[in-house]
This record gives sequence, structure tokens and C-alpha cells, in this order.
Amino acid sequence: MEVVILAAGKGTRMYSAHPKVIHTIGGKPMLQRVIETAIKANANSLHVVIGFGADRIKNHFEKIESFKSVNWLLQEHQLGTGHAVQQAVSSINSDDENNTILVLYGDVPLIQADTLEKLLKLSRQNAVSLLTLETENNEGLGRIIRNDANEVVAIVEEKDATAEQKHIQEVNSGIMAISAMHLPDWLARLDNSNEQAEYYLTDIVALAVEDGCKISALTIADENEVQGVNDKSQLAHLERQLQMTNNSKLLEQGVTLRDPTRVDVRGELSCGQDVEIDVNVIFEGSVTLGNNVSIGANVIIKDSSIDDGSVILANTNIEGASIGKDTAIGPSARIRPGTILRDKVKIGNFVETKKAVIGEGSKANHLAYIGDAEIGKDCNIGAGTIFCNYDGVNKHKTTLGNNVFIGSNSVLVAPVNLADNTFVAAGSAINSDVPSDNLAVGRTKQRNISGWKRPVKKD
Ligand code: UD1
Ligand code: MG
Repeated sequence: MEVVILAAGKGTRMYSAHPKVIHTIGGKPMLQRVIETAIKANANSLHVVIGFGADRIKNHFEKIESFKSVNWLLQEHQLGTGHAVQQAVSSINSDDENNTILVLYGDVPLIQADTLEKLLKLSRQNAVSLLTLETENNEGLGRIIRNDANEVVAIVEEKDATAEQKHIQEVNSGIMAISAMHLPDWLARLDNSNEQAEYYLTDIVALAVEDGCKISALTIADENEVQGVNDKSQLAHLERQLQMTNNSKLLEQGVTLRDPTRVDVRGELSCGQDVEIDVNVIFEGSVTLGNNVSIGANVIIKDSSIDDGSVILANTNIEGASIGKDTAIGPSARIRPGTILRDKVKIGNFVETKKAVIGEGSKANHLAYIGDAEIGKDCNIGAGTIFCNYDGVNKHKTTLGNNVFIGSNSVLVAPVNLADNTFVAAGSAINSDVPSDNLAVGRTKQRNISGWKRPVKKD
């Protein structure tokens, strides 16, 4: 089985400078979803027909390892779906009578591999197998024409349909499996004498009937699986459908979602037992939550893991981090890439961390920047502490031993090391190492000026 994915169209109704199939659903470009589904359905080879924004699409996907074998084909002028499939003819193996060509659309993103497998099963006995849909919303879609014996004999596009044919509610999803042996001949026989002056792939159905070949149809129940995206409203609709499907699965697994319509997973989320997720939470990339993890409202978590018993409070943003057990983060904390929090760490409001390893039981409860740091166990980072990691050109590291106490509003100018049990007086600027058990005071001595007069207001 070989797959041909049609993705050359511009997507005029998206009103976007970007190719349509790059637009994302669930955080993933639509075309990426279709390619992944084709791989899952065991495609032996994958041909993707691109046209509008071809270079951008290729550049975007060539980075993905499993897409290395994709055969990108250019359809310079979009002369119709039949013409698009024709671009793949020289690449496919049409000598093997058992080979099947499965045609997918790059803008039908939610098609499932098990549906395709059913269609492929049907295609073993039939030269053409269509995936059709029964719907009252048949507007703009190709109508399936059946004879008195209920056999499919043609597909008629809406623009070419008679008033009577327009009433037909069985429509073409566009997805079909075609015998590879017959395909080149049928494509060569297509013409564009229709309302849109296009080479319709759908016309091969009538040609197959002419040649005495059998046509079968698999009618799908879930409309969303074959819903194409032509505009932003359809994109938004499928995004909701996908989110609701994912969130229903989470609920089934026992995850508590305070409101399943207000949690978005734009990637993969794996949850342990007794996980609670409040409203307006977004997960991106790959996120793992352990047992008894609680996520507050308005939290965004990307490519991170959070271990058992940790609590993420409202408005916190976490990216590229590994969070230990029984930690508490937020509200309103920002945990940036390279952050590793060991067990029982506490990060409070308006604290930002980046490339920081923070040891067990350590705390930074308010207003701090901790960048390029290694912090031992049971340290306390006072309010307003800044790790000055950047000299304007290079980044430098700060290390703290165990049980270090940093007084409020201090700056630690990296590179600098503070050994075990050191104590920094509030308001200090520390730019040289502090030996263990020392108090470091890095500020000017306080002067009190007696008899000083406040300024008075001038007229
Ligand atoms: C097509 C079908 C119609 C079906 C509908 C389902 C034909 C003639 N009609 O109509 O029966 O009900 O899909 O959504 O096939 N494309 C190219 N090159 C082209 C033309 C199209 O790559 O020259 C791609 C588009 O990017 C898109 C797909 O093929 O991914 C479908 O094209 P589109 O123009 O949307 O076809 P429809 O008119 O919707
Ligand atoms: Mg369409």
C-alpha cells in the first residue's frame, strides 16, 4: 500500500500567508497529523503532493526524523485533484496487481488509522474503495451516485450536479483506495470538461465502472474524521473536537478535570492516579504528571515532568523542566528550560528560574531570578534575590552549598560560589566566593544624618 497525500492547494479561505496544511490542530500541523496517520496505517511509501508554499512545507517537515523517507512531489499549477495524483504516477509501483494507492488530503487532519485499515481491507476485493459520509451538511461536497442495484456508479461534484443530485446526502470524503495497476490509465483518461475546468480524481469512479471494475463504499459515522478544513471556523471546530476527544479519554482514565472544555492538550499528556487539573490549563509538547499532582487555574506546562504529590498553583508557566516530588510552585512563577527541582522544593510568586538545579527542601518564596545556578539542600533564597548570570556577553554560573541563606534583595554576581552554611546579609552585592559558615555582608555601612530637613513644596 502506498499513500498519496494531496496538499498543493493554497487554502484561499484561510486568508493566511502560510500554506493551509501548516496550520495546527492540537499543536501539530494538519499535514503532520495526516502523514503520521499514514505511517500508522502501514504505508510502504508516502508521496506528498505540494504546490503553494512548497519550500516552506518541505523545510518544516524535513527536520522530522520519521518523515525522512517522504517523497515530496511538486504540482506547480493546481489543475485539480486528478492532476495532483498524476504527479505521483511515475513514483508508484503500478506493476504489482496487489498494490493499492490510498489517497488522503492534507487538510483532513483527524482521519484515524483504524478507519483507513477498514477501507484498505475493502480495497482487496474492489478496484476502487471510497470513504463516504451520510450527512445533511452536504454543501460543497461530491455526491455519491448509485444505480437501482445500489451500486456506486459515479461521483458528481456539487457544481456539476443536477438539482435532484444535489439532494443526495451520501457524499465523498475525498479519501479513497485505488488499485495501483489501473490508476495510471484512469488518470490519463481524465478530462477537464466540467464547471471548474479541473481534472477531477472523482471521475475515475465512472471510468472504473466503464471498465467493469467493482466500486465499494465504506460509510463513516464520525463526521469529524473526514471533515476538511477550508477556513478558520472549520479549523476551530476540529480543534474543539480533538480536545473534547482527548479530554474524555483523560476523564475515563480517572483524571479530575474541573471543566473538560477548558483544558487544552497540544501534544501528549500522561497522568498518574488522582491528578487534578483546574480550568484554563494548557499542556504543550510532552508532559508527564505523577500521582496526586494538582494543577491550578491558568497554568501552562510545556515539555516537562512533574513528580508525585507536587502542586502547581495558578498562573504558573513551566517549560523544559523536571520537577521532583512534593514540590509547590507558584502562584505566578516562571520555570524556564533547564530547571531541575529536587523533592520538596518551594518556588513562590514572581520567581523565575532558568538552567537551575535546586536541591531538596530549598525555597525561593518571592520575587527572585535564579539563572545558571546549582543550589544545594535546604537553602533559602530571600525575596528580591537576583542571580546575575550575564555580563552582557557571556553567561556564568553560581553555586550554593547546603543550608545557605540569602538575605532579601541581594545580588549574586556570577561566577561565584557560596559554600555550605553561608549567610548573606540582606541587600548585599556578592561578587567573591564565601567560605563555609561565614556571614557575607556586601553593602555600604548605614549612616544616620541628624537634623536633616525634608524638601518643602515651592509655590
Ligand atoms: C474534493 C472532492 C469532493 C469531495 C471533497 C471532500 C474532487 C474533484 N472533489 O472537493 O468530491 O467531496 O473533496 O472534501 O476531488 N489539491 C491539490 N491539487 C489540486 C487540487 C486540490 O493538491 O490541483 C488538494 C487540496 O490542497 C486539498 C485536496 O486536494 O487538500 C482537496 O481539494 P479541494 O479543492 O478542497 O477539493 P474539493 O473541491 O473540496
Ligand atoms: Mg475542500
